[in-house]
Amino acid sequence: MIALIGMPGSGKTTVGRQLARRLGIAFLDSDRLIEERLGCSIREFFEREGETAFRAAEEVTLYELTAHATCAVLSTGGGAIVRPSTRLRLRQRSHVVYLHALPDDIYRRLRHDTTRPLLQTEEPLQQLRNLYAQRDPLYRETAHFVIETGRPSVATLVNMVVMQLELAGAVNAGALEKPGQPPPLAGAPTDP
Ligand code: S3P
Repeated sequence: MIALIGMPGSGKTTVGRQLARRLGIAFLDSDRLIEERLGCSIREFFEREGETAFRAAEEVTLYELTAHATCAVLSTGGGAIVRPSTRLRLRQRSHVVYLHALPDDIYRRLRHDTTRPLLQTEEPLQQLRNLYAQRDPLYRETAHFVIETGRPSVATLVNMVVMQLELAGAVNAGALEKPGQPPPLAGAPTDP
């Protein structure tokens, strides 16, 4: 399992889809699975039940998704690292890639977004800065690799992730040279 973590709008879903295609493995999006289970949008659920109830649903879903040795790319929600147990679970059960993005860049991408409950505030940029200050250390603590998203295209970001996974022995060397050939994944990392 390769898990992508990072702030909302850091490209987890876009990069995750392309990465899965490149590696010839399944793509899983934990937010979409949570919505299917809840039977409503995350925004509605937040409004009705609050953040704590959402984090509980997120924790259960991520726990189940990482219960078996699955060959897949998993895109997680931006707050998946809030609970220590979920951080530990992701780190032990998957190769965790942090897509690092700065709040000002994220704001430019998400300023018209209405789907993300935590950003529906008077001051979304300040909210992104606050979330980043709280979460950047948690993303780094959870991740095996950090990828700078800044300017590169999605294709370049996918190459960067594949390169890191190759160096770690998580995918077979040659994935970069043969984009059409799905390289088998190696086992999940073992943590000290
Ligand atoms: C959240 C991010 C969202 C979603 C929920 C909470 C967060 O996912 O899980 O709205 O706490 O940052 P994205 O990172 O895909 O936007």
